[in-house]
Amino acid sequence: MRKLIEKRIVLATHNAGKVKEMQAIFVPFGIEVLSAGDLKLTEPEEDGKTFIENARIKAVSAAKESGLPALGDDSGLCVHALNDRPGIYSARYNEPKKNGFMYAMEKLNEELGNASDRSAHFSCALVMAWPDGETAEFEGRVDGALQWPVKGTNGFGYDPMFVPNGYDLSFAELPAEVKNTISHRARALKSFTDNCL
Ligand code: IMP
Repeated sequence: MRKLIEKRIVLATHNAGKVKEMQAIFVPFGIEVLSAGDLKLTEPEEDGKTFIENARIKAVSAAKESGLPALGDDSGLCVHALNDRPGIYSARYNEPKKNGFMYAMEKLNEELGNASDRSAHFSCALVMAWPDGETAEFEGRVDGALQWPVKGTNGFGYDPMFVPNGYDLSFAELPAEVKNTISHRARALKSFTDNCL
């Protein structure tokens, strides 16, 4: 696997929360992290069919435009009784964004009805792209079950509904340190740092 020897990279996201979370990962390695937002890079259309394809679209576009190695990510919730929906459409499933993420969680709960299988997983794909066109892919997932009513106020998105396997509390009730060691993003980032840094 190609090692990241460059000391500056771009995160191919305009989401300030993700930039902050990921910047912390790179500090111990002495790598300076810029964001697509800082560099005013264009946001490509996410028209891939998988998490990896969408992460690659973002990473390749940012690497090409900035001339720096770029890390792109894509993530979402896959509900097993719904054939892994909303999946890559997890953010868009919340349109028209009524009532924060409660809108999407209520809609999911209605779709599930009284299904006996309430299992689901979060998935995260990361793609590292170099300006010469080479890419490397990493994935992480965390399995759990969807609870109703939702509980907790930490985190974001579908966290209040998702109870990871082995725990009695939702991602929105667990302390951030716990979520950030077992989450899909933490696992994908660990695979990236183990292999590339
Ligand atoms: P994207 O990766 O920015 O395209 O966003 C994916 C969407 O998936 C987010 O808007 C959330 O709805 C959902 N999602 C991804 N990761 C998490 C998580 O850790 N907790 C809750 N929801 C998440």
